[in-house]
Amino acid sequence: MVNLGVLVSGSGSNLQAIIDHIEAGRLDARIRIVISNLPGVFGLERAKKHGIPSMVISQKEFKGRDDFEQKLVEVLKEHYVELVILAGFMRIITKTLLGAFPMRVMNIHPALLPSFPGTHVWQKEIDYGVKFAGCTVHFVDEGEDTGPIIIQAVVPVFDDDTADTLNARILKQEHKIYSQAIQMYAEGRLEIQGRRVIAKGMPKIEDSFMMNPPATIFET
Ligand code: GRF
Repeated sequence: MVNLGVLVSGSGSNLQAIIDHIEAGRLDARIRIVISNLPGVFGLERAKKHGIPSMVISQKEFKGRDDFEQKLVEVLKEHYVELVILAGFMRIITKTLLGAFPMRVMNIHPALLPSFPGTHVWQKEIDYGVKFAGCTVHFVDEGEDTGPIIIQAVVPVFDDDTADTLNARILKQEHKIYSQAIQMYAEGRLEIQGRRVIAKGMPKIEDSFMMNPPATIFET
């Protein structure tokens, strides 16, 4: 059982997916606290609905980023949090928080890193013309979307996609892989070797692959 602290800034659909996987008994974790840096966001409602303690910690109330993160650390520690989950948390995290939770902060990014870091990635992917997109769960380091990769999921990009349709297709997979990553952590499977995260004892599917457009001249 791993104690989670989930940080949100918005809708919290990833938070909801984690709650649902826990309640269904698939994920061996407990959310001890949900923190939002913005008041009134739907993520806070979701926490309340499921009886999970939640609070707003706004950076505006602090002199600087250090004090803000120090407060986050204090609250997370008070709630016995072991693993910090960034779920649509729209602030860059620095060494104040990372130092308190070394390689124990995870983030989800809606692209196949290291391609398309940053924000508003879906239109960039469409404009670039990639045939596949996806999402990445990674440990957070001091860079932007640069930390060691834990798990990725791939989805096709179709010719008639808009940023919204692609976002929706990716989000569906985010809701699975974030909990999968947390469960691998809970089971002690994740071993960090430099940039690489080794997932010990996980099955391998040797011949798995996808083509987009799909094959029409042979069976796949
Ligand atoms: C997702 O696109 C996630 O990849 C990114 O922020 C968004 C969060 O969405 N980090 P939600 O608040 O979980 O619905």
